[in-house]
Amino acid sequence: MEVIETRAQLKQWRGKVHGSVGFVPTMGALHEGHLSLVRRSLAENPWTVVSIFVNPRQFGPQEDYHRYPRTLETDLRLLQNLGVSASFVPSVEEMYSSEDEAYISLTRLSRLWCGSYRLGHFDGVALVLTKLFHLVMPARAYFGEKDFQQVRIVEKMVEELFFPLEVVRVPTVREPDGLAMSSRNMYLSPSGRAQAIALYKVLQYIQTLVPKTGLVSDLLREGEAYLRERFPEVRLEYLAIVDEYSLQPIEHLRQSSHPRALIAAYVEGVRLIDNLPLIYPEESE
Ligand code: PAF
Repeated sequence: MEVIETRAQLKQWRGKVHGSVGFVPTMGALHEGHLSLVRRSLAENPWTVVSIFVNPRQFGPQEDYHRYPRTLETDLRLLQNLGVSASFVPSVEEMYSSEDEAYISLTRLSRLWCGSYRLGHFDGVALVLTKLFHLVMPARAYFGEKDFQQVRIVEKMVEELFFPLEVVRVPTVREPDGLAMSSRNMYLSPSGRAQAIALYKVLQYIQTLVPKTGLVSDLLREGEAYLRERFPEVRLEYLAIVDEYSLQPIEHLRQSSHPRALIAAYVEGVRLIDNLPLIYPEESE
């Protein structure tokens, strides 16, 4: 595996390879979720590039940019063992100049849900991915469904800005108890870790109610009550049921062919997210 640090080296490498390049953008601290993206790319492309870059532009001033886990050596070893062709590990200066003025924003999708609590977050994601897509020129880019809003934003950005690549969604990888894998899980103490399962549990609980009602206000009220009673230490940021294409809230599950429940919550001050597609049987009321 080539470990590439500069844009110039990447350009040189990219000029030499022929055939489709699969791209997995990451912020490092790699876990099984990332590795499932890498494996999928390796299976679908003769070349796979993984970037590791903790992107300062997608963190708010009060967020965890400085303490975000950085485990570069272990990450590179994992990627090498999987058979990745090249990793791109640029410095902040390599990706942003002090004179940068560029700004990419999806004005609607980026401001909903997580975007309304993490102001500017998705604009930072869109900017860094624009830069990375131009540098790597992948045929396919791989994203985990755990960050569902991010996936939809990238799909829309690729469509609207005519990036010549396919966005591939890869299902969320979960711990045996259901907790969605995330680099931020590392921040949790054992008791926080036990509480963190609340996110997936409440999504599953909502799914169990669906045969009885498709009315979203009922599902959300029951879901919130479940969280309050079973997981009092979890601080809910939002719980929503949306159409998974537009990410707009719906009032009844029958309004969407693909309804999805989204959740963001804090456990021991750590912000966690998860989501689940809801299966709504035709005959349900
Ligand atoms: O999902 C992430 O890790 C980041 O948002 C991404 C896509 C690598 C952009 O920095």
